[in-house]
Amino acid sequence: MDMTIERTGATLGAIVNGVRLSEIDTSALVRIKELFLEHALLIFPGQFLDARAQEAFAKNFGAIEVLVENMKSIPISNKAENGRLMDSKDEQMKLLKGNEGWHTDSSYMPRAAKASVLSAHVVPPEGGETQWADARAAYDSLEASTKNRLKDLRAQHNYFRSQAKIGHKVAVGAAYGFFEGKSPEYPLVKIHPETGRPALYVGRHACEIPGMESQDAENLLVQLNTHITQEPYVWSHKWAPGDVAIWDNRCVLHRARPYDQSQERLMMHTRIRGERESETAINYR
Ligand code: OGA
Ligand code: MN
Repeated sequence: MDMTIERTGATLGAIVNGVRLSEIDTSALVRIKELFLEHALLIFPGQFLDARAQEAFAKNFGAIEVLVENMKSIPISNKAENGRLMDSKDEQMKLLKGNEGWHTDSSYMPRAAKASVLSAHVVPPEGGETQWADARAAYDSLEASTKNRLKDLRAQHNYFRSQAKIGHKVAVGAAYGFFEGKSPEYPLVKIHPETGRPALYVGRHACEIPGMESQDAENLLVQLNTHITQEPYVWSHKWAPGDVAIWDNRCVLHRARPYDQSQERLMMHTRIRGERESETAINYR
């Protein structure tokens, strides 16, 4: 079975066929890791991994970041345990609503995520796509003067503030271990620890910029997020059950698209922890 690689048409992402992620050998893994660094997003259609196989695949990229105690993978779903479909009043749906804003995973934590694996299990007939945006190409296209202005800036990232912006007051000590300490600070321009390529590092969790007025910081962050999330930097994937995606949180923003909540959507998410040297917040080193 030969691996086939098809570029998406956006500046990031490739669709990979002809490989079974549950049975990859060393040479296929080496190839997949190269493709991951090059394209920053890989989509593998028709894999149908169970949680254990997904975790085994994820572990090839680093240690798993445990988001909920005793769970290596978490369901991203609008279906409650009792089988009821939740609506926008449910706490869980308010958390999922947040995923519809462009973000990079765990940037509100003292150590941000390296990568994430997401697989589709039940998909709604319309909507519910995931989109990814290339923060590398978006950086490259900035004017030299803008690059220079961003060079030494950093932003604070805060989950409570990003949820508050969409009208959700997160209960302190809520699920997922959302971080309540001082806001981690990350550079606006992140140098990729493996490729050396610079990328904008912002997303919806970024808020204050030390040394700037709040409103100026907000304006700059909106401007940067808007710049990253336009063509040709964005790829949108319409999921089919069995599809698996992995992306590089160090240089990619992503978001979920809305769907009719009377339809079920069930995704499984496994998050790969950042490396201490390169993904630790500046103010936690
Ligand atoms: C995530 C996420 C988007 C989606 O799992 O981290 O942002 O489409 N998911 O469900
Ligand atoms: Mn996410």
